[in-house]
Formats: sequence, C-alpha cells, structure tokens
Amino acid sequence: MGWSSCIIWFLCLSVCECWPLPDPPMHGEVHSPGYPRPYPHNLQQQWDLHVPEGYQIRLTFTHLDIEASADCYYDSLSVLYGEKLLGKFCGNENSADGHHPGNHPILSPGNSLKLKFQTDGNNPERHQNVGFSAQYQAIDIDECSAAEPEDGSGPLCSQICLNTLGSYLCSCHHGYELRSDQRSCVLSCSGGLFDEPKGHLSSPGYPSPPPHGVSCQYVIAVESGFTISLNFTDKFNIESVHTEEGRQCLHHWLEVAIAEEKSIKLCGDESPGLMHINSNVVRLNYHTDDAGQSSGWSLDYSTQRVKCPVPGNIANGRVTPRLTEYFYRDYIYVRCDQGYKIMTGGQEIDSFSTMCQSNGQWHLKLPECHLIDCGEPEPLLNGGVTFLSGYQNQYLSVIQYHCNEPFYFLLGGANVTFTCEADRVWRSSIDIVSPTCIPVCGQPTKHISYYQRIIGGSDAPDDTIPWQVLLSVSGDRGGGMVIADRWIMTAAHVLMRGSQVVPSSTVRIYMGLNEVTENLSAYVFPSSLHVHPEYHNPRHTDFNNDIALIKLQDPITFHSSIMPVCLPPEGAEYETGVIGLVSGFGTTGTINKRILTNKLKYLNLPLVSQQTCSASMTSLRRGTSEIPNLTDNMFCAGIPEGGKDSCQGDSGGPFTLTENGRFWAAGIVSWGANCGMKDRYGVYTRVANYVNWIKKTMQEN
Ligand SMILES: *[C@@H]1O[C@H](CO)[C@@H](O)[C@H](O)[C@H]1NC(C)=O
Ligand SMILES: *[C@@H]1O[C@H](CO)[C@@H](O)[C@H](O)[C@H]1NC(C)=O
Ligand SMILES: *[C@@H]1O[C@H](CO)[C@@H](O)[C@H](O)[C@H]1NC(C)=O
Ligand SMILES: *[C@@H]1O[C@H](CO)[C@@H](O)[C@H](O)[C@H]1NC(C)=O
Repeated sequence: MGWSSCIIWFLCLSVCECWPLPDPPMHGEVHSPGYPRPYPHNLQQQWDLHVPEGYQIRLTFTHLDIEASADCYYDSLSVLYGEKLLGKFCGNENSADGHHPGNHPILSPGNSLKLKFQTDGNNPERHQNVGFSAQYQAIDIDECSAAEPEDGSGPLCSQICLNTLGSYLCSCHHGYELRSDQRSCVLSCSGGLFDEPKGHLSSPGYPSPPPHGVSCQYVIAVESGFTISLNFTDKFNIESVHTEEGRQCLHHWLEVAIAEEKSIKLCGDESPGLMHINSNVVRLNYHTDDAGQSSGWSLDYSTQRVKCPVPGNIANGRVTPRLTEYFYRDYIYVRCDQGYKIMTGGQEIDSFSTMCQSNGQWHLKLPECHLIDCGEPEPLLNGGVTFLSGYQNQYLSVIQYHCNEPFYFLLGGANVTFTCEADRVWRSSIDIVSPTCIPVCGQPTKHISYYQRIIGGSDAPDDTIPWQVLLSVSGDRGGGMVIADRWIMTAAHVLMRGSQVVPSSTVRIYMGLNEVTENLSAYVFPSSLHVHPEYHNPRHTDFNNDIALIKLQDPITFHSSIMPVCLPPEGAEYETGVIGLVSGFGTTGTINKRILTNKLKYLNLPLVSQQTCSASMTSLRRGTSEIPNLTDNMFCAGIPEGGKDSCQGDSGGPFTLTENGRFWAAGIVSWGANCGMKDRYGVYTRVANYVNWIKKTMQEN
C-alpha cells in the first residue's frame, strides 16, 4: 500500500467509513483519445501512471503517429518522471523528421510516470495522424545494483544487499549483526548470561578497537547468597571527553548497573581494577557511537558468599562457633550458662540455632539467656516453706520446709534444705525426693500428771489421750484409736453383728472428744471397714484376732485434741507388771451399779501373765462353759483385788504402754468376764502380733 493511501486511509477512518485505495496495477494500456481514429485539435491531456512501490514502470509504444515538427513543436507526447522529462515524441516510425521512440521501451526511475499529450489547432497535412498507443508494466528495481547515492550517506547496505521483488534487504557477514537502522552491521557482542561462579568477558574484538556503534549487554547472574567481584585487566580504554566538569563518558561507556542502585558509567584509560558488587546480579552495557575510538576492556569475575553481621555477645550465654566473619549458609548456636535458659520472644526454647541467609541477615534474632527458675515450691501439707536465700525461685535459691510442730515432723529432719538446680528442680541436700510431713505419734501435748491407784478410773483431762475415738455402731458405743491420718483401729467384734460386718453407714466416728455431750454432730463416716479375715466369732465364744481397721473418707489434720498413737515398736515387749493406760467412754461402777459414762475415763492397769490370767479363767469355767479361750493373740491386764477394769462400751478402745516417752498401742479392749470383779482380768488384743497386717491393710487400701 502506498504512502498516500495510508494517509487517506487514516483520515477516512477518523471522518467517515470508506474503502482503502486498491493497489496500483502491475500493468496497463494508455492511448490517445479516439485511437485509432485521428486525434482532435487543441488537446491538452495528461495520464498519470502508477505501479506499486519498489517497482519501475517500463513503457512500450505499440504505435506512435503524431504530426512531426522540429522539436515536436506543434503536437507532442511528453513522458516525464516527476518534473524530469524523459522524452518528447512526435512523427511516426517512417518519418525522417520528428522524434520517434522507436522500439525502445522507456524506463521510469521510479514507480510513476506522467504522459502529456498536446496538439495545436491546425493540421497542414492531408494525412490524418492517429496519435499513440502504449503498454506499461511494473518492473522490479534492483536496488542493490544501484550506484551509491551521491549525498555521501554510504552504500544502501553496509555489507550484503539482497534484492527482493519490489524491495531489498540488508544482511551481515558472520560475526556481525544488523543495527537498528537496518542497513549497517556491527560486530556482534558475545554477550549474554553468565551464571557460573567464575568467568571472563571482554568487549567485542578486544584488544583491537571494534567497529563503531557497539551496543552490547552482558548479564552476570549467580545464585542468590553470593556477591560478584569484577577484576578489570590493566588494558582498559574507553573514549572519554574532557569537559569543564572533568572527564565524562559522553559517547562511549561501559555502564555497570545493579538493580535498585544508581548505575556507574566507566570510561578513560585507567583500569577500574577490582570492583565489588553488592549483589548477585550485575548488568554491563557497552556502548560506542559512530565516531571516536575505544579499544575496549576485559575482566575476570568471581563470586563470594554473602556476609552476615558478626553476632553480638549474649549476657550469660555463648555463641558458637566464634568466627571473625560469617557467610551465607553458616550456622551459629547459642548456649546459655549453667543455671540459665534460652528465651526468645518471651518463650522458653530447648535450643537455638540460626542460619546466615542469602540476604546477609540471620534468619532468627539472637535469643536471651534468663536465669532458670524452679517455680513456686510445692506447698507442703501440714507444713510450710521458708526462703533462706535467692530471688524469685531462681537458680540456686535455697528453701527450707517445715512441718506444723509438734504434730508433724519433716521426713529427713527439720534442717533439710532444697536448692533450685539447673534442671529446674528443687533438690534436697540429702536424698529426699519430696518433702513430707509425718504425723508425730503417741506424744500428747498434755500429760496425766500422776498415776492414780484408785478404783474405777478417773476423768481424763483434755488432750491427754488425743487418739481416743468414740464409735457409735447402730447406736451402740464402742471405742477406737487413731493410728494414722486416715486410719482408726478398733476391735473386730465392735463392727460385727453375727458373722456380718455392719454397713459402714451405720458407723459414726467421733474424735477429739472428752465428753460425749460436747458436740454430737461432729462425726465422720468411714469410707471402708477392714475386719481381720481370721476373726470368726458368731457366738461370742472366740475372740481370737479381735482387731479391725476403719478407713476415713478424708485425712485428719492433727492438733492437740486429735493425734495418733504409735504402733507397737519392733520387738515390743509385754512385761508382766508393767502399767498400761486404758481409756474409754464405757461403763463405770461395779457389777451392781453400771453407769454409762459421758466423760472420757482412764485407768492404769498392770499387765498380768498369761498363766495367771489363764488360771483365773479356768476357775471361772467351773461355773459356766461359755468362757472364751485365751490365745497368744491376747494379753490380760488388771489387779487381783478387782474394781478396776475395762468394760462394755470400752470395747475397741486403746490400752497403751510407753517407750521413750511415747505411747504405743499395745492392746485393744476385747473382752472380759464380769468387769472389775476380784481375780478377773480384762483381755486385750495383742496388737504387736498384727503390725504386719495393719501396715499391709493400710498400704493396700
Ligand atoms: C585481579 O587480576 C589480577 C590479574 O589480572 C590478579 O593478579 C589479581 O590477583 C586479581 N585480583 C583478585 C582479587 O582476584
Ligand atoms: C537445725 O538448724 C538450727 C538452726 O538453723 C540449728 O540450731 C540446729 O542445730 C540444726 N540441727 C541440725 C540437726 O543440724
Ligand atoms: C459441732 O460440730 C459441727 C461440725 O464439726 C460444727 O459445725 C459446730 O460448730 C460444732 N458445735 C459446737 C458447739 O462445737
Ligand atoms: C477352748 O480350747 C479347748 C482346747 O484347746 C477346746 O476344746 C474348746 O473348744 C475351746 N473353746 C472354745 C470356746 O473355743
């Protein structure tokens, strides 16, 4: 499409809807008006011939017969290219005068041709001239063979010219490439991408000056986490211009460009030497223009791992390894000193390591070392804790536990201290895992001041027999004794009805009472009853193994009114004549006058030998055969003159002996024939025979 039609096309588009002009024809015919009849007088006619661009017009006359005259003065056909006259014709093939084109075609230098036909008013000859007829045809121009234009702009193509139909193309020899002007060639840059960790590059043709007009781009792009160093060789030459502001890279330069940074243009005769680029990507743009001379440059590049800042010191901790420089992919670890823990963002962590990242930053912030603390010491049941030294339960703080004296003592002794250790545990100076308060047994806060030798017993002063228990079993009274914070010991027969153990809901337990009327709503129920498995006494004739334990629902907190009695010591002895203490809310008085006492009574009675006791039984049996047998699991206490004894209602109550000032449970009030009579003794369960069973039962329940 021609240039002019483009303009029209464009104008049309903006103004109206219309069709693009058709391409000019490749050939055609032109003739004078009325041909082959004679042409008219006084004619002025013009033909404008066009063929597509890139073509010439070849005009060939098939016939030309125009009135001949010198210089074709009267009638003529002029052929013009623009304003340039290519020929002015008249006459015919046979006439000697005039100017006839003959058989030679006329070639237009371009793609247009103008024909002007003009005639005058008279025709002197009889002969009537018929005018002309011609054919034209588009001829491809061989632009490549055209002579260089005279304006000095150089050849059409600087290296290779290829003629095409209607046009031409420029091309370059191997190693050159076509510049953007589409006609000149430049040495091609061996540019491109460099991604190896090391490399060499140089300007085209180095060290010879390259042809003019070089524009080369090189990209060095290595793995992130590395930086690039450019090491220019000494031979460096890029044209520079000296201006008032100093040397400037105006026409030739090597531009070093890093993303997001101002690029630098290099020129001059001095090698920049070593350049560190703080990036893993650098672009080099080498530019020269059509004048001047630069012999270029050459460089080796290398890469280094990115550096991370040297980590600072950590108070109470250590960074390992300690190096003078840290690079991409290096790891560091942090350890805290003994007694310190690693904290980051307020959280404790097990361990810490961080890596130097490709951006030159550590991927995690350094942690802190904080003093370890063991947390609040566990509260101690029936005791407390005291700080001896240290701060906020931190490492090496020292604490001491104590128990509520005189009712408890600390396992391991009162002076055991616990230290907060590096593993965050309070640990004792001796081998105790956890502090425990052990109840003190058999040591009442008040003592019965003297032993009475009076018949019938006496009221026990407050807090002198704090292990005494009053039981109410289906309304019947019984006795018992506290032996541990959850355990009461009593006689088996107190909890039996026939061969059945009573339901535990029928058992009420009163502790710390000195008088039955005191507070009868202050009782507790048992959680379980444990009668000795070998107690079989359906007919009240066999009191062997008359022992039972009651487990409480909640542990007792001991105080002066409620304290446990000790269990028999190892190798406990029941020496005849030794005075024991028996107590209970049972009956007082003689056989004739039994009064159920509401006050806690006690008696001091001596142990009697099995022989004496057995003998008294034998004499009694003569009257009745219903007297139970005395076994080795029993012992007797009492005085031959009678009048002092434990009786009904005292059953299950304690008979205690003392050793080293401690009361221990030697017996459980079991049975007797006719309380308080002469030569009659009370019979007690020999507790020392049951220590293993007691401990086992308490452990297993
Ligand atoms: C730079 O190259 C020169 C040789 O051209 C060499 O001697 C020098 O060690 C190189 N410098 C570095 C840092 O590689
Ligand atoms: C326990 O500590 C107290 C005071 O700290 C001291 O007087 C006593 O002797 C210590 N007892 C023992 C057995 O170390
Ligand atoms: C009796 O015991 C109950 C339960 O322990 C208690 O709430 C009450 O205050 C006591 N009354 C007297 C008078 O001690
Ligand atoms: C007492 O023991 C004797 C002989 O050891 C025996 O025959 C008698 O049955 C026993 N009495 C009772 C009530 O168990």
